[in-house]
Amino acid sequence: MRRKLVVGNWKMHGSRPANAELLAAIVGARPYGCDVAVCVPYPYLTETAAALSGGDLRWGAQDCSAHEQGAYTGEVSATMLAEFGCRYAIVGHSERRACHHESDLLVAQKAQAALARGITPIVCVGETLEQREAGDTEFVVKRQLAAVIHRLAHCAGEIVVAYEPVWAIGTGRTATPEQAQAVHAVLRTQLQAATGHGERMRILYGGSVKADNAATLFAQPDIDGGLIGGASLKAADFIAICRAAG
Ligand code: 13P
Repeated sequence: MRRKLVVGNWKMHGSRPANAELLAAIVGARPYGCDVAVCVPYPYLTETAAALSGGDLRWGAQDCSAHEQGAYTGEVSATMLAEFGCRYAIVGHSERRACHHESDLLVAQKAQAALARGITPIVCVGETLEQREAGDTEFVVKRQLAAVIHRLAHCAGEIVVAYEPVWAIGTGRTATPEQAQAVHAVLRTQLQAATGHGERMRILYGGSVKADNAATLFAQPDIDGGLIGGASLKAADFIAICRAAG
C-alpha cells in the first residue's frame, strides 16, 4: 500500500511573516494521515527547517543544480540543499522547462544530482494543451520520464513522479479524475517495466488541486497524492487537501 504524499510548491511566493504563520498552522494541524512536505524558495529554507524539524513534516526546494559546485552563478547544489535538511527537490517543473528552457536531459541530470545527495527528486512531467489536443499526451509524458529513468538506471525506483498537465497549472482548470488516472496508469506501467518497483512508487497529481476536488482525485487508484501550487499558500486550503489524502 502506497502512503499518500502531499507537497506544497510555494513557487515564488511568501514573506517571512506570512511563512511563519502558514508553517505554524500546518504544524498545528498535525497529525495528518499522509506524508506532507513544503517546497519553498531557497532563502526560506532555514526558517522552514526550524519550524518543521523534529516532527514528521518534510521540506524541500523547487529546483536543484545539475552541477556539484563551481562557476554557476545563481545555482544551488544538492549538497547545499542537503545541508538544510531538504528531503525533496522538485525538478523539471513545467515553469522551468518553459521559462528556463530546461531539456529532458538537464532535468534527468538534476534528478541524478539530487539523488546522489540523498534528496528525493520530485520529477514533473506533463503535456501542454496543444500536445493534448494533438493526441500526444502519452508520448510526451513517457518521453520526459524515460530521460530520467535512462539516466538514473537502477536508482530510478527512488524518485517521486508528479504528473502536471501544463494546461491545468494555475488555471483553475483541473484534469478530471479520469483524465489524470489514465495518465498515471501509463506512467506506472512505464515505471514498473523499467524499474520493477512501479507498484511502490508514488505518482502525484498537480494542477489546480483545491480543497473541494482533492478527495476525488486522490481516490483514483494510481494517484498517490498531490503537488499543490496556489492552494498550498492558504493554510486552511492546504490542510484540507492534506486531510483529503489522509
Ligand atoms: P496550481 O496548484 O497553482 O495549479 O499549481 C500546480 C503546480 O504547478 C504545482 O507544482
